[in-house]
Amino acid sequence: MPTSQAPLRVLLFSASLRAESLNTRLVRLAARVLEKQGATVDLASMREFDVPSYDGDAETATGIPLGAQELHRRLLANDAFIIASPEYNASMPGLLKNAIDWTSRFRPQPFDGRHALLMSASPSMAGGNRGLWSLRMPLEHLGTRVYPDMFSLAAAHKAFADDRIADEALQTRFETNLQAFLSLAEAAKHYPCIKRAWVEFLGETPGTPADRVDAA
Ligand SMILES: Cc1cc2nc3c(=O)[nH]c(=O)nc-3n(C[C@H](O)[C@H](O)[C@H](O)COP(=O)(O)O)c2cc1C
Repeated sequence: MPTSQAPLRVLLFSASLRAESLNTRLVRLAARVLEKQGATVDLASMREFDVPSYDGDAETATGIPLGAQELHRRLLANDAFIIASPEYNASMPGLLKNAIDWTSRFRPQPFDGRHALLMSASPSMAGGNRGLWSLRMPLEHLGTRVYPDMFSLAAAHKAFADDRIADEALQTRFETNLQAFLSLAEAAKHYPCIKRAWVEFLGETPGTPADRVDAA
């Protein structure tokens, strides 16, 4: 990553509330790696984004709740975001989808055009990867550029060694994945032509309908 530009700011959070969460451990490790790679990290807790179940009547009566206001603020304050999410019943946790739904009610809609990297950790042999495919759906629907490669840590309950992943090849892959994501997000921030390239990559003609940019 070029060092002449301001460091990229990356919001990271785990979608688990558990004190001994494997996903929180993974996201903390990601934050340390990103710092070494030159990024400025904003490590958040899912508790900061706590919201009641989405209710359109409550939204009309009292507006968007504080937890979603906080997620909105942190999305805007950073250049990109990373979520480490548990897999619950082959999908994403309900509390994460609920937080995304509330936060998507802001205009301009804050997920649009942002770069995201998804990761998961699970004791299972699939590492929670199916949950990430479900998480891609609302994020891509909202216009987030979800990085194609995702990192899922299998047998995560015995995969960590102190402050790294015990398996050297996996640790290297983890760091490479983060570096590649950072490079793309950095290019998108400093070289706006990448936005056009991304849209063309999706096979869409650049322009207002494809850009999915809300009127302020
Ligand atoms: C309701 C529920 C459903 C789960 N479903 C899955 C699943 O489909 N796939 C999987 O790999 N693990 C599943 N698990 C196990 C979680 O991956 C495991 O509890 C993991 O440690 C949760 O993430 P955390 O450690 O970050 O809290 C499930 C756990 C719960 C509580």
